[in-house]
Amino acid sequence: MTVRLDYAPVSGREQRPPWLRASEGAGLLGPDGAPGATIFERVGAAALEHGALNLGQGFPDADGPDWLLESAVEAIRGGRNQYSNGNGLPELREAVAAHQSRWYGIDLDPETEVLATAGATEALAAALIALVSPGDEVITFDPSYDEYGAHVALAQGVHVRIPLERDGGRFRVPLDAFEEACSDRTRVIVVNDPHNPTGMQFTDEERAAILEAAHRWDALILTDEVYEHQWFARPHVPMASLPGAAERTLSISSSGKTFSVTGWKTGWISGPRELIGRVRAVKQYLSFCTSPAYQVAVAGALQDDRGWIESARLSLQDKRDALVTGLERAGWTPVAPEGTFFALAEPPAWLADPSDPRRAESAALAMPAETGVAGIPVTAFTAPDSDACGGLVRFAFCKSIRVIDDGVDRLVRAADARRSG
Ligand SMILES: Cc1ncc(COP(=O)(O)O)c(C=O)c1O
Repeated sequence: MTVRLDYAPVSGREQRPPWLRASEGAGLLGPDGAPGATIFERVGAAALEHGALNLGQGFPDADGPDWLLESAVEAIRGGRNQYSNGNGLPELREAVAAHQSRWYGIDLDPETEVLATAGATEALAAALIALVSPGDEVITFDPSYDEYGAHVALAQGVHVRIPLERDGGRFRVPLDAFEEACSDRTRVIVVNDPHNPTGMQFTDEERAAILEAAHRWDALILTDEVYEHQWFARPHVPMASLPGAAERTLSISSSGKTFSVTGWKTGWISGPRELIGRVRAVKQYLSFCTSPAYQVAVAGALQDDRGWIESARLSLQDKRDALVTGLERAGWTPVAPEGTFFALAEPPAWLADPSDPRRAESAALAMPAETGVAGIPVTAFTAPDSDACGGLVRFAFCKSIRVIDDGVDRLVRAADARRSG
């Protein structure tokens, strides 16, 4: 018996089913209209086939500090294994509030203004589903993390993508285009700072323009600050710390990148109590709660990180420098990132025709065989027809220095072989 997978929509309503909207919103629909293999999967398969070093994957190859891992083990052994409060354990909410106060001078009531979530992913999902109504516009700065597009589409919002511009050695927000895109239809402006995949940190001027537009059009600001402790150019400044911003800003972060435990999926969202209440209304029917043992461990680490955050940041900066200078040696043109785990770089002409608008994708697919290294084309983070950040390939440097050196050696050897061949 065949199963009817999609029901005919009631006329006048959204014609496409939610799964299709989510796939399309995230740019995952294949040419046949079905969710296709993502470019991450295709590059991963090519990397496996050719035994290439995968510098595409954005997770660290080393776990966080032992004391943190031990505190999760202790919490499990100590019986923290049943459902927790749906808002998150009080100790985690208090630790998030203390962290925001200590690092940024932001005051939060842990009872009403903080919600623990299953990673930043769930916080983003709950916020966008809760706050975006059909037809509302959501602005992102592109290329951008693919989850935003999926949830905007699920909420039947309109995704307005502002392509970032390359300005010499950095990326920047084209303020005129941004201001032109804002209107009374703008419901949410998503600010991912530091920004994946460009590695950009927003400037004071950019933050001020975003806040001014949010005030002018009565829009909300939703921040994704999962890389808040991976900055290199200047200390991170959360949007919510700007005068007049807190009342309309929801701030999201998570323990994954900060403490090198991306699989723990322990995150949080904070902001004004009325908005948090609305997000909670959706969040409680997504995960309900996240693992209490990890919440206990992360709460302890946020209260006292034992110097981990700064030492991890400095060591990441060394890795960034090793990758960026190595890419230059191998004939690539990197844009030195100001933050995050990622560097974008333009491939050398021998790997992809500089006049080909899809050169990032052809370079990324050719790289495993040609260089023994895999990276992700920036097109994985843009609308299908966008030329935002053109032909760049994303490399992750949240790896051991040995792995980065190996990757660089492979790229340099491939370039030398080309030159001498
Ligand atoms: C920009 C951005 N936001 C959110 C996430 C997801 O964070 P979490 O693992 O805490 O759900 C990631 C993960 O790579 C990310 O790069």
